[in-house]
Amino acid sequence: MSILDNRPGLAHEVEQVAEVAGYLWQKGWAERNGGNITVNVTEHVDDAIRAMPAISEPRPIGFTLPNLKGCYFYCKGTNKRMRDLARWPMENGSVIRILDDCAHYEIIADNPVAPTSELPSHLAVHNYLIGKGSNYKASVHTHPIELVAMSHCKKYLEKDVATRLLWSMIPETKAFCPRGLGIIPYKLPSSNDLAEATIKELGDYDVTLWEKHGVFAVDTDVMAAFDQIDVLNKSALIYIQAKNMGFEPDGMSDEQMREMTVAFNLPK
Ligand code: 13P
Ligand code: ZN
Repeated sequence: MSILDNRPGLAHEVEQVAEVAGYLWQKGWAERNGGNITVNVTEHVDDAIRAMPAISEPRPIGFTLPNLKGCYFYCKGTNKRMRDLARWPMENGSVIRILDDCAHYEIIADNPVAPTSELPSHLAVHNYLIGKGSNYKASVHTHPIELVAMSHCKKYLEKDVATRLLWSMIPETKAFCPRGLGIIPYKLPSSNDLAEATIKELGDYDVTLWEKHGVFAVDTDVMAAFDQIDVLNKSALIYIQAKNMGFEPDGMSDEQMREMTVAFNLPK
């Protein structure tokens, strides 16, 4: 028996996570247990799920997150591999329930797989998204090689320098990642500091670059969050290929960028 049985909506959410987990591995962005995904699945929760007993003790989130009262999340398990999650999502992830104190969670299905160590960032972000009335349900953290490589250079960590560069590599990047790439100075992985810095940047960006670590992206669903990272990293690849051929790429001109912004009705 699985929580996914006879629940096509919930099963679809988890299948999408598994599909994206496979892409992350194939792209080389998910070494060992690298990266994590959480999805707010509360809309798929019925009375039977609400009545399900916990299969773990209550555990602290590390924050009190009032907007998460009564919410449920599918979470990748800590120390679990994306390549394994792609095939067995309920052995490498679990569904958790936020308790009424909004400061603890418990695991309810299918197995007592402890959620990702980046849970403070993921849940703080979901709390923030609900608070601003967003329809975003998914958050993805991964280690995309080229974007992480760029984060080792101070120049690209200045506000919007990487965004402008990446947008100018190929017209689609601004079209499909219109809010650009926020920058988060290095913070200890899994820390509340990292969570707080991430929320701050998500006011202006859908994708943030964790210096010398990875990216953290949000969107309506897991596939859309993955797509935003994918288009940005594609631009990073084009930039690096040009550099490897021995020249600094011209990038689209300001006039070409303006034309695109108007034609696709994108934010300035
Ligand atoms: P988890 O295995 O705990 O999800 O951690 C992976 C990771 O990328 C931490 O930043
Ligand atoms: Zn990481």
